[in-house]
Amino acid sequence: MIPIKPVSSQAPATSATAGPAQAALAFLKPGSLQLTALPPLSLYVHFPWCVRKCPYCDFNSHEVKDGFPEQQYLDALRADLEQSLPLIWGRKISTIFIGGGTPSLLSAAGLDRLLSDLRTLLPFDSDIEITMEANPGTFEADKFRAYRDSGINRLSIGIQSFNSQHLHALGRIHDGGQALKAVEIAQANFDNFNLDLMYALPNQTLEEARTDIATAIGLAPPHLSLYHLTLEPNTLFAKFPPPVPDDDTSADMQEMIAELTTAGGYANYEVSAYARPQRRARHNLNYWRFGDYLGIGAGAHSKLSFPHRIVRQMRYKHPQTYLQQFQAGSPIQEEAEIGRDALGFEFMLNALRLTEGFPPNLFAERTGMGLNQIEKQLDLAEKKGMLYRDHALIRPTDLGRRFLNDLQEIFLSD
Ligand SMILES: C[S@@+](CC[C@H](N)C(=O)[O-])C[C@H]1O[C@@H](n2cnc3c(N)ncnc32)[C@H](O)[C@@H]1O
Ligand code: SF4
Repeated sequence: MIPIKPVSSQAPATSATAGPAQAALAFLKPGSLQLTALPPLSLYVHFPWCVRKCPYCDFNSHEVKDGFPEQQYLDALRADLEQSLPLIWGRKISTIFIGGGTPSLLSAAGLDRLLSDLRTLLPFDSDIEITMEANPGTFEADKFRAYRDSGINRLSIGIQSFNSQHLHALGRIHDGGQALKAVEIAQANFDNFNLDLMYALPNQTLEEARTDIATAIGLAPPHLSLYHLTLEPNTLFAKFPPPVPDDDTSADMQEMIAELTTAGGYANYEVSAYARPQRRARHNLNYWRFGDYLGIGAGAHSKLSFPHRIVRQMRYKHPQTYLQQFQAGSPIQEEAEIGRDALGFEFMLNALRLTEGFPPNLFAERTGMGLNQIEKQLDLAEKKGMLYRDHALIRPTDLGRRFLNDLQEIFLSD
Protein backbone atom coordinates (compact mmCIF):
# COMPACT_ATOMS: atom_id res chain seq x y z
CA MET A 1 0.00 0.00 0.00
CA ILE A 2 1.27 3.47 -0.89
CA PRO A 3 1.98 5.34 2.36
CA ILE A 4 2.39 8.82 0.87
CA LYS A 5 -0.18 11.46 1.64
CA PRO A 6 -0.85 13.92 -1.20
CA VAL A 7 0.77 17.33 -0.75
CA SER A 8 -1.28 20.41 -1.52
CA SER A 9 1.34 22.56 -3.26
CA GLN A 10 1.35 20.66 -6.52
CA ALA A 11 1.38 22.63 -9.75
CA PRO A 12 -0.72 21.29 -12.64
CA ALA A 13 1.58 19.85 -15.32
CA THR A 14 -0.66 18.83 -18.20
CA SER A 15 -4.30 18.18 -18.77
CA ALA A 16 -5.33 14.74 -17.53
CA THR A 17 -7.14 14.24 -20.83
CA ALA A 18 -4.04 14.70 -23.00
CA GLY A 19 -3.03 11.42 -24.67
CA PRO A 20 -0.33 9.40 -22.87
CA ALA A 21 2.16 9.75 -25.71
CA GLN A 22 1.65 13.55 -25.82
CA ALA A 23 1.95 13.70 -22.02
CA ALA A 24 5.21 11.74 -22.18
CA LEU A 25 6.60 14.15 -24.75
CA ALA A 26 5.56 17.14 -22.64
CA PHE A 27 7.23 15.61 -19.58
CA LEU A 28 10.50 15.27 -21.47
CA LYS A 29 10.74 19.02 -22.19
CA PRO A 30 13.16 21.22 -20.22
CA GLY A 31 11.87 21.99 -16.72
CA SER A 32 12.93 23.34 -13.35
CA LEU A 33 14.88 20.25 -12.18
CA GLN A 34 18.00 18.44 -13.26
CA LEU A 35 18.00 14.75 -12.32
CA THR A 36 21.30 12.98 -12.98
CA ALA A 37 19.72 9.53 -12.99
CA LEU A 38 16.24 8.07 -12.77
CA PRO A 39 15.44 6.08 -9.61
CA PRO A 40 14.41 2.40 -9.49
CA LEU A 41 10.91 1.82 -10.84
CA SER A 42 8.22 -0.24 -9.08
CA LEU A 43 4.74 -1.21 -10.22
CA TYR A 44 1.67 -1.13 -7.98
CA VAL A 45 -1.52 -2.91 -9.07
CA HIS A 46 -4.68 -2.11 -7.12
CA PHE A 47 -7.50 -4.61 -6.62
CA PRO A 48 -10.44 -2.66 -5.14
CA TRP A 49 -12.85 -5.33 -3.81
CA CYS A 50 -13.27 -7.12 -0.47
CA VAL A 51 -15.78 -9.67 0.84
CA ARG A 52 -16.87 -7.13 3.43
CA LYS A 53 -15.79 -3.60 4.33
CA CYS A 54 -13.98 -3.58 7.70
CA PRO A 55 -15.20 -0.82 10.05
CA TYR A 56 -11.69 0.63 10.59
CA CYS A 57 -10.56 0.64 6.94
CA ASP A 58 -10.11 3.77 4.84
CA PHE A 59 -8.39 2.08 1.91
CA ASN A 60 -9.98 2.12 -1.54
CA SER A 61 -11.91 -1.10 -1.05
CA HIS A 62 -15.53 -1.92 -1.84
CA GLU A 63 -17.76 -4.77 -0.76
CA VAL A 64 -18.20 -7.30 -3.60
CA LYS A 65 -21.94 -7.83 -2.97
CA ASP A 66 -22.85 -9.68 -6.24
CA GLY A 67 -19.34 -10.67 -7.29
CA PHE A 68 -16.90 -8.53 -9.22
CA PRO A 69 -16.19 -8.22 -12.96
CA GLU A 70 -12.89 -10.11 -13.05
CA GLN A 71 -12.40 -10.23 -16.82
CA GLN A 72 -13.46 -6.62 -17.35
CA TYR A 73 -11.10 -5.45 -14.61
CA LEU A 74 -8.19 -7.47 -15.98
CA ASP A 75 -8.87 -6.02 -19.45
CA ALA A 76 -8.83 -2.53 -17.92
CA LEU A 77 -5.56 -3.17 -16.07
CA ARG A 78 -3.93 -4.26 -19.30
CA ALA A 79 -5.26 -1.22 -21.17
CA ASP A 80 -4.18 1.02 -18.29
CA LEU A 81 -0.65 -0.35 -18.47
CA GLU A 82 -0.53 -0.11 -22.27
CA GLN A 83 -1.57 3.56 -22.08
CA SER A 84 1.12 4.21 -19.47
CA LEU A 85 4.01 2.64 -21.33
CA PRO A 86 5.22 5.88 -23.00
CA LEU A 87 5.83 7.29 -19.51
CA ILE A 88 8.26 4.53 -18.50
CA TRP A 89 9.80 3.68 -21.83
CA GLY A 90 13.01 1.62 -21.57
CA ARG A 91 12.90 1.27 -17.78
CA LYS A 92 13.02 -2.07 -15.98
CA ILE A 93 10.62 -2.97 -13.18
CA SER A 94 12.40 -3.89 -9.95
CA THR A 95 9.39 -4.76 -7.75
CA ILE A 96 5.65 -5.34 -8.13
CA PHE A 97 3.01 -5.13 -5.41
CA ILE A 98 -0.52 -6.38 -6.01
CA GLY A 99 -2.51 -4.80 -3.19
CA GLY A 100 -6.03 -3.96 -2.17
CA GLY A 101 -8.65 -4.49 -1.17
CA THR A 102 -8.34 -8.26 -1.29
CA PRO A 103 -6.41 -9.39 -4.38
CA SER A 104 -6.60 -13.01 -3.19
CA LEU A 105 -10.23 -12.93 -4.38
CA LEU A 106 -8.78 -13.19 -7.89
CA SER A 107 -9.09 -16.66 -9.36
CA ALA A 108 -5.86 -18.55 -9.98
CA ALA A 109 -6.49 -18.20 -13.74
CA GLY A 110 -7.17 -14.46 -13.36
CA LEU A 111 -3.94 -13.85 -11.45
CA ASP A 112 -2.04 -15.92 -14.01
CA ARG A 113 -3.46 -13.78 -16.81
CA LEU A 114 -2.54 -10.57 -14.96
CA LEU A 115 1.06 -11.67 -14.46
CA SER A 116 1.46 -12.82 -18.02
CA ASP A 117 0.08 -9.46 -19.26
CA LEU A 118 2.60 -7.65 -17.06
CA ARG A 119 5.44 -9.87 -18.29
CA THR A 120 4.48 -9.32 -21.91
CA LEU A 121 4.36 -5.55 -21.61
CA LEU A 122 7.18 -4.80 -19.17
CA PRO A 123 10.85 -5.70 -18.85
CA PHE A 124 11.38 -7.26 -15.39
CA ASP A 125 14.62 -7.13 -13.39
CA SER A 126 16.08 -10.63 -13.14
CA ASP A 127 15.61 -10.72 -9.34
CA ILE A 128 12.22 -8.99 -9.32
CA GLU A 129 10.20 -9.11 -6.07
CA ILE A 130 6.49 -9.77 -6.77
CA THR A 131 4.31 -9.42 -3.67
CA MET A 132 0.61 -10.10 -3.38
CA GLU A 133 -1.68 -9.27 -0.46
CA ALA A 134 -3.80 -12.17 0.71
CA ASN A 135 -6.55 -12.31 3.34
CA PRO A 136 -7.15 -15.40 5.49
CA GLY A 137 -10.52 -16.89 4.62
CA THR A 138 -10.20 -16.12 0.89
CA PHE A 139 -7.80 -18.83 -0.30
CA GLU A 140 -7.01 -22.50 -0.04
CA ALA A 141 -3.67 -24.29 -0.47
CA ASP A 142 -4.32 -25.05 -4.17
CA LYS A 143 -4.87 -21.40 -5.02
CA PHE A 144 -1.67 -20.39 -3.22
CA ARG A 145 0.36 -22.95 -5.11
CA ALA A 146 -1.13 -21.65 -8.35
CA TYR A 147 -0.26 -18.04 -7.40
CA ARG A 148 3.33 -19.12 -6.74
CA ASP A 149 3.53 -21.02 -10.02
CA SER A 150 2.31 -17.89 -11.85
CA GLY A 151 5.26 -15.90 -10.46
CA ILE A 152 4.26 -14.46 -7.06
CA ASN A 153 7.38 -14.79 -4.89
CA ARG A 154 6.30 -12.92 -1.75
CA LEU A 155 3.00 -12.94 0.16
CA SER A 156 1.68 -10.34 2.57
CA ILE A 157 -1.02 -11.83 4.76
CA GLY A 158 -3.54 -9.66 6.61
CA ILE A 159 -3.60 -11.59 9.90
CA GLN A 160 -4.44 -8.57 12.13
CA SER A 161 -4.77 -10.82 15.23
CA PHE A 162 -4.85 -14.49 16.16
CA ASN A 163 -7.58 -13.85 18.74
CA SER A 164 -11.05 -14.72 17.38
CA GLN A 165 -12.78 -12.26 19.71
CA HIS A 166 -10.65 -9.35 18.52
CA LEU A 167 -10.99 -10.42 14.90
CA HIS A 168 -14.74 -10.35 15.37
CA ALA A 169 -14.57 -6.85 16.88
CA LEU A 170 -12.55 -5.76 13.83
CA GLY A 171 -15.28 -7.10 11.53
CA ARG A 172 -12.90 -9.56 9.89
CA ILE A 173 -14.26 -12.53 7.96
CA HIS A 174 -11.69 -14.93 9.46
CA ASP A 175 -11.10 -16.36 12.95
CA GLY A 176 -7.92 -17.31 14.85
CA GLY A 177 -7.88 -20.84 13.40
CA GLN A 178 -8.05 -19.54 9.82
CA ALA A 179 -5.28 -17.04 10.60
CA LEU A 180 -2.99 -19.90 11.69
CA LYS A 181 -4.02 -22.01 8.70
CA ALA A 182 -3.19 -19.15 6.32
CA VAL A 183 0.34 -18.89 7.77
CA GLU A 184 0.78 -22.66 7.46
CA ILE A 185 -0.15 -22.53 3.76
CA ALA A 186 2.20 -19.59 3.23
CA GLN A 187 5.07 -21.41 4.98
CA ALA A 188 4.55 -24.46 2.79
CA ASN A 189 4.61 -22.50 -0.48
CA PHE A 190 6.67 -19.33 -0.04
CA ASP A 191 10.01 -18.76 1.59
CA ASN A 192 9.37 -15.02 1.64
CA PHE A 193 6.24 -13.69 3.31
CA ASN A 194 4.97 -10.93 5.59
CA LEU A 195 2.34 -10.96 8.32
CA ASP A 196 0.31 -7.78 8.98
CA LEU A 197 -0.88 -7.43 12.57
CA MET A 198 -2.55 -4.56 14.34
CA TYR A 199 -2.40 -3.76 18.05
CA ALA A 200 -4.24 -1.44 20.47
CA LEU A 201 -7.42 -3.18 19.33
CA PRO A 202 -10.85 -2.63 20.92
CA ASN A 203 -10.72 -3.92 24.54
CA GLN A 204 -7.28 -5.48 23.98
CA THR A 205 -5.10 -5.88 27.09
CA LEU A 206 -1.30 -5.71 27.12
CA GLU A 207 -1.16 -9.48 27.74
CA GLU A 208 -3.47 -10.20 24.79
CA ALA A 209 -1.33 -8.04 22.52
CA ARG A 210 1.76 -9.86 23.81
CA THR A 211 0.18 -13.24 22.98
CA ASP A 212 -0.58 -12.03 19.42
CA ILE A 213 2.94 -10.75 18.78
CA ALA A 214 4.57 -13.79 20.40
CA THR A 215 2.39 -16.11 18.29
CA ALA A 216 3.39 -14.24 15.14
CA ILE A 217 7.11 -14.40 16.00
CA GLY A 218 6.76 -18.09 16.91
CA LEU A 219 5.70 -18.74 13.30
CA ALA A 220 9.02 -17.25 12.14
CA PRO A 221 7.81 -15.03 9.27
CA PRO A 222 10.67 -13.36 7.37
CA HIS A 223 8.87 -9.99 7.74
CA LEU A 224 6.32 -8.47 10.12
CA SER A 225 4.27 -5.28 9.75
CA LEU A 226 2.89 -4.19 13.13
CA TYR A 227 0.41 -1.30 13.02
CA HIS A 228 -1.16 0.67 15.84
CA LEU A 229 -4.91 0.67 15.08
CA THR A 230 -5.92 4.19 14.06
CA LEU A 231 -9.47 5.49 13.95
CA GLU A 232 -9.49 6.92 10.44
CA PRO A 233 -11.94 9.68 9.46
CA ASN A 234 -14.96 8.54 7.42
CA THR A 235 -14.92 4.99 8.77
CA LEU A 236 -17.50 3.26 10.94
CA PHE A 237 -15.01 3.25 13.84
CA ALA A 238 -14.64 7.04 13.58
CA LYS A 239 -18.43 7.42 13.75
CA PHE A 240 -18.91 4.90 16.57
CA PRO A 241 -15.52 4.76 18.34
CA PRO A 242 -14.89 1.41 20.07
CA PRO A 243 -13.20 1.32 23.52
CA VAL A 244 -9.50 1.22 22.60
CA PRO A 245 -6.55 1.01 25.05
CA ASP A 246 -5.47 4.31 26.65
CA ASP A 247 -2.19 6.05 25.71
CA ASP A 248 -0.24 4.45 28.59
CA THR A 249 -1.32 0.94 27.65
CA SER A 250 -0.57 1.51 23.98
CA ALA A 251 2.89 2.89 24.92
CA ASP A 252 3.45 -0.29 26.97
CA MET A 253 2.42 -2.34 23.93
CA GLN A 254 4.99 -0.53 21.79
CA GLU A 255 7.68 -1.25 24.37
CA MET A 256 6.65 -4.91 24.50
CA ILE A 257 6.80 -5.08 20.67
CA ALA A 258 10.33 -3.61 20.67
CA GLU A 259 11.47 -6.24 23.21
CA LEU A 260 9.87 -9.26 21.53
CA THR A 261 10.90 -8.36 17.98
CA THR A 262 14.50 -7.62 18.98
CA ALA A 263 14.71 -10.90 20.91
CA GLY A 264 13.22 -12.67 17.88
CA GLY A 265 15.94 -11.33 15.57
CA TYR A 266 13.84 -8.72 13.73
CA ALA A 267 15.19 -5.27 12.90
CA ASN A 268 12.68 -2.40 13.10
CA TYR A 269 13.94 -0.73 9.92
CA GLU A 270 10.88 1.48 9.35
CA VAL A 271 8.11 2.84 11.61
CA SER A 272 5.94 -0.31 11.42
CA ALA A 273 8.20 -2.73 9.53
CA TYR A 274 10.32 -5.50 11.10
CA ALA A 275 12.54 -7.83 9.12
CA ARG A 276 14.89 -10.73 9.50
CA PRO A 277 18.28 -10.10 7.82
CA GLN A 278 18.01 -9.69 4.02
CA ARG A 279 14.20 -9.78 4.23
CA ARG A 280 13.29 -6.10 4.12
CA ALA A 281 10.38 -5.30 1.79
CA ARG A 282 12.12 -4.06 -1.35
CA HIS A 283 8.94 -2.61 -2.82
CA ASN A 284 8.23 -0.47 0.24
CA LEU A 285 11.89 0.49 0.58
CA ASN A 286 11.65 1.99 -2.90
CA TYR A 287 8.76 4.22 -1.72
CA TRP A 288 10.65 5.30 1.38
CA ARG A 289 13.77 6.09 -0.63
CA PHE A 290 11.65 8.28 -2.91
CA GLY A 291 11.90 5.87 -5.83
CA ASP A 292 9.44 5.83 -8.72
CA TYR A 293 6.26 3.81 -9.04
CA LEU A 294 3.60 3.40 -11.65
CA GLY A 295 0.22 2.59 -10.07
CA ILE A 296 -2.45 0.97 -12.22
CA GLY A 297 -6.02 0.10 -11.25
CA ALA A 298 -8.79 1.98 -9.45
CA GLY A 299 -7.49 4.87 -7.32
CA ALA A 300 -3.83 3.91 -7.78
CA HIS A 301 -1.20 6.63 -7.31
CA SER A 302 1.97 7.04 -9.39
CA LYS A 303 5.16 9.01 -8.90
CA LEU A 304 7.30 9.20 -12.01
CA SER A 305 10.57 11.02 -12.63
CA PHE A 306 11.76 12.56 -15.89
CA PRO A 307 15.09 14.32 -16.43
CA HIS A 308 13.61 17.76 -15.62
CA ARG A 309 10.48 17.11 -13.54
CA ILE A 310 8.70 14.71 -11.18
CA VAL A 311 5.04 13.97 -11.77
CA ARG A 312 2.24 12.46 -9.70
CA GLN A 313 -0.88 10.79 -11.07
CA MET A 314 -4.05 9.49 -9.49
CA ARG A 315 -6.58 7.23 -11.20
CA TYR A 316 -10.36 7.41 -10.68
CA LYS A 317 -11.08 5.84 -7.32
CA HIS A 318 -14.40 4.05 -7.58
CA PRO A 319 -14.07 0.80 -9.56
CA GLN A 320 -17.16 1.57 -11.69
CA THR A 321 -15.94 5.10 -12.49
CA TYR A 322 -12.46 3.77 -13.24
CA LEU A 323 -13.89 1.18 -15.64
CA GLN A 324 -16.23 3.73 -17.29
CA GLN A 325 -13.48 6.30 -17.79
CA PHE A 326 -11.75 3.99 -20.25
CA GLN A 327 -14.69 4.59 -22.60
CA ALA A 328 -13.99 8.32 -22.25
CA GLY A 329 -10.30 7.79 -23.01
CA SER A 330 -8.25 7.82 -19.82
CA PRO A 331 -8.50 6.45 -16.26
CA ILE A 332 -6.37 9.32 -14.91
CA GLN A 333 -8.30 11.75 -12.71
CA GLU A 334 -5.42 13.97 -11.60
CA GLU A 335 -1.96 14.60 -12.91
CA ALA A 336 0.42 17.21 -11.53
CA GLU A 337 4.06 18.10 -11.42
CA ILE A 338 5.50 18.24 -7.89
CA GLY A 339 6.67 21.81 -7.39
CA ARG A 340 10.23 22.52 -6.16
CA ASP A 341 8.77 23.90 -2.92
CA ALA A 342 7.04 20.57 -2.12
CA LEU A 343 9.81 18.22 -3.23
CA GLY A 344 12.06 18.62 -0.19
CA PHE A 345 9.18 17.91 2.16
CA GLU A 346 7.96 14.93 0.13
CA PHE A 347 11.43 13.39 0.10
CA MET A 348 11.87 13.86 3.87
CA LEU A 349 8.33 12.65 4.64
CA ASN A 350 9.39 9.29 3.24
CA ALA A 351 13.09 9.01 4.01
CA LEU A 352 12.70 9.96 7.69
CA ARG A 353 10.57 6.85 8.21
CA LEU A 354 13.72 4.76 7.77
CA THR A 355 15.60 3.96 10.99
CA GLU A 356 18.92 3.93 9.14
CA GLY A 357 18.15 7.23 7.39
CA PHE A 358 19.80 7.94 4.04
CA PRO A 359 23.09 9.09 2.52
CA PRO A 360 23.01 12.89 1.88
CA ASN A 361 23.63 12.53 -1.87
CA LEU A 362 20.36 10.56 -2.23
CA PHE A 363 18.49 13.85 -1.74
CA ALA A 364 20.08 15.43 -4.83
CA GLU A 365 19.81 12.23 -6.80
CA ARG A 366 16.07 11.89 -6.18
CA THR A 367 14.95 15.54 -6.19
CA GLY A 368 17.43 17.18 -8.57
CA MET A 369 18.01 19.89 -5.91
CA GLY A 370 20.91 20.56 -3.56
CA LEU A 371 20.65 19.75 0.14
CA ASN A 372 20.98 23.53 0.75
CA GLN A 373 17.26 23.74 -0.21
CA ILE A 374 16.43 22.25 3.21
CA GLU A 375 19.50 23.41 5.17
CA LYS A 376 17.51 25.63 7.55
CA GLN A 377 15.12 22.80 8.41
CA LEU A 378 17.96 20.27 8.83
CA ASP A 379 19.66 22.67 11.26
CA LEU A 380 16.49 23.18 13.27
CA ALA A 381 15.79 19.42 13.47
CA GLU A 382 19.39 18.83 14.58
CA LYS A 383 19.17 21.55 17.25
CA LYS A 384 15.98 19.96 18.59
CA GLY A 385 17.82 16.64 18.93
CA MET A 386 15.53 14.93 16.42
CA LEU A 387 18.04 14.44 13.62
CA TYR A 388 21.59 13.15 13.38
CA ARG A 389 23.82 14.01 10.43
CA ASP A 390 27.40 13.67 9.31
CA HIS A 391 29.06 13.60 5.89
CA ALA A 392 27.82 10.07 5.16
CA LEU A 393 24.42 9.90 6.79
CA ILE A 394 21.23 11.72 7.75
CA ARG A 395 18.90 9.86 10.08
CA PRO A 396 16.22 10.45 12.71
CA THR A 397 17.44 10.12 16.33
CA ASP A 398 15.45 8.05 18.85
CA LEU A 399 13.65 11.28 19.82
CA GLY A 400 12.95 12.04 16.15
CA ARG A 401 11.51 8.56 15.65
CA ARG A 402 9.30 8.92 18.73
CA PHE A 403 7.91 12.23 17.51
CA LEU A 404 8.13 11.54 13.78
CA ASN A 405 5.16 13.74 12.84
CA ASP A 406 6.81 16.75 14.55
CA LEU A 407 10.10 16.01 12.82
CA GLN A 408 8.44 15.69 9.40
CA GLU A 409 6.49 18.90 9.98
CA ILE A 410 9.73 20.87 10.31
CA PHE A 411 10.30 20.22 6.60
CA LEU A 412 6.86 21.59 5.67
CA SER A 413 7.88 25.18 6.44
CA ASP A 414 10.21 27.42 4.39
C1 LIG B 1 -3.91 -2.45 2.40
S1 LIG B 1 -4.30 -2.89 4.00
C2 LIG B 1 -5.27 -4.33 3.73
C3 LIG B 1 -4.71 -5.63 3.33
C4 LIG B 1 -5.75 -6.73 3.34
N1 LIG B 1 -6.89 -6.43 2.56
C5 LIG B 1 -6.21 -7.04 4.74
O1 LIG B 1 -7.00 -6.27 5.27
O2 LIG B 1 -5.83 -8.06 5.27
C6 LIG B 1 -2.77 -3.33 4.71
C7 LIG B 1 -2.75 -3.36 6.21
O3 LIG B 1 -2.97 -2.10 6.78
C8 LIG B 1 -3.37 -2.27 8.12
N2 LIG B 1 -4.47 -1.34 8.41
C9 LIG B 1 -5.59 -1.14 7.71
N3 LIG B 1 -6.37 -0.20 8.30
C10 LIG B 1 -5.73 0.20 9.42
C11 LIG B 1 -6.02 1.12 10.48
N4 LIG B 1 -7.13 1.83 10.50
N5 LIG B 1 -5.09 1.25 11.47
C12 LIG B 1 -3.94 0.54 11.46
N6 LIG B 1 -3.63 -0.34 10.49
C13 LIG B 1 -4.50 -0.52 9.49
C14 LIG B 1 -3.82 -3.72 8.27
O4 LIG B 1 -2.89 -4.43 9.08
C15 LIG B 1 -3.78 -4.24 6.85
O5 LIG B 1 -3.45 -5.59 6.77
S1 SF4 C 1 -10.12 -6.61 4.09
FE1 SF4 C 1 -8.42 -5.14 4.15
S2 SF4 C 1 -8.74 -3.70 2.47
FE2 SF4 C 1 -10.65 -4.90 2.75
S3 SF4 C 1 -11.93 -3.61 4.02
FE3 SF4 C 1 -10.81 -4.99 5.40
S4 SF4 C 1 -8.89 -3.87 5.93
FE4 SF4 C 1 -9.81 -2.83 4.17
